[in-house]
Amino acid sequence: MDSFLIEGGTTLRGEVQISGSKNAVLPIMAATLLTAETCVIRHVPDLSDVRFMCQILTSLGAEVEFDGSTLKVRAANITGTGDYDLIRKMRGSICILGPLLARLRKATVSLPGGCVIGTRPIDLHLKGLRTLGTQIRIEAGYVHAEAPDLSGSLVFLGGRAGPTVLGTANILMAATLAEGVTVIESAACEPEVVDLADFLNAMGARIQGAGSPTITVTGVRELRGVEHEVIPDRIEAGTFAVAAAASGGEVTLRGARPDHLGAVLDKLQEAGVRITRRAGALTIGAASNLKPVDITTMPYSGFPTDMQAQLMALMCQAPGTSIITERIFESRFMHAAELMRLGADIGIEGPSAIVKGGAPLSGAEVMASDLRASAALVIAGMAASGTTQVHRVYHLDRGYERMEVKLEALGARIQRVPGE
Ligand code: UD1
Repeated sequence: MDSFLIEGGTTLRGEVQISGSKNAVLPIMAATLLTAETCVIRHVPDLSDVRFMCQILTSLGAEVEFDGSTLKVRAANITGTGDYDLIRKMRGSICILGPLLARLRKATVSLPGGCVIGTRPIDLHLKGLRTLGTQIRIEAGYVHAEAPDLSGSLVFLGGRAGPTVLGTANILMAATLAEGVTVIESAACEPEVVDLADFLNAMGARIQGAGSPTITVTGVRELRGVEHEVIPDRIEAGTFAVAAAASGGEVTLRGARPDHLGAVLDKLQEAGVRITRRAGALTIGAASNLKPVDITTMPYSGFPTDMQAQLMALMCQAPGTSIITERIFESRFMHAAELMRLGADIGIEGPSAIVKGGAPLSGAEVMASDLRASAALVIAGMAASGTTQVHRVYHLDRGYERMEVKLEALGARIQRVPGE
């Protein structure tokens, strides 16, 4: 397994191009199953999760071509049974269930596995599909779904922690080819849901209200192939913004969408970070006096759980106390113990982490536990004195396109050490 070797104490300066959004492209890839015609998707990030989803589409019978940026999918002849092991390994693959059901009226998909940030149930996905008239059986680790009369209905998707992003994507995709009108209430409002709805509407779907808590879908008979460009990755942009701030430098994020980053930019500004917004770019300059801020993760447009770990790494450097509360996933503080190896002072009290910032960090060997936790460790490693080795960076490769190459171009001393 590869690791990153980081020589800390460098200041990031320059420009970085933001890649296409991982969380937007995965459901869009699933949506290509809704038509027998060819779909062309541009600005696709070259990530292991994307390559994995390509394998899943191929295993279902689709013809897939990916050159590292443009993806072509032709799902002319597909089967409704996904490869058990492939799907089980990647949580995001659950979003093939909705489109398979819509197109074939029948699908068998393995239950996605849990992961270190929590149990990650799919009860809301299944409840939504049942409301559209789907018979669902869970047997031997598989979800068997059948819907000869898939039909529109009122679907409420709010859960314990608010709406569900991929659940909304699944119901949205199933509803496009259902008979009649579906109204999704308490729908996720994330920009990735809007991008999916834009893609589906371009295919001929009739969706209104995406980006708001109420989405209305009028079913159509069939969908056609389209070309689409994926939105920029707001979490990658936020991660580079925090990395710039933590390093004491100044970085311009090319192609970032400030309108997708409201809560993150607001918190950075409150912490004293300088932010300049221009059309097509965003410049982040370090604070002269970094201040502690309190954060609570929430569904969009609140502060994203996928930026919580990175902000914690930044708060380790702000003199004073900040309280970081995680409300979306129950065990998403694995990075705290690793940050403490670098000298951070963090206490966990239930869903909150109390960070006493300002102590100098110094390099150590740390272990990445999940995608965003890994990003936090890289940020902290760059800010620490001495050498930090971040093990298991395959987590990072799932969701950041060539992260070490981009950071090196900004002045970081970081190198990939191939694992045995
Ligand atoms: C997506 C993102 C992930 C992000 C998360 C929250 C992708 C590929 N992944 O994951 O990066 O961290 O949104 O912004 O887009 N829940 C249930 N029942 C369900 C589904 C979810 O209780 O059926 C709960 C979850 O346990 C969690 C909350 O709802 O507490 C939100 O999860 P959800 O929005 O579904 O996350 P994902 O869509 O899986």
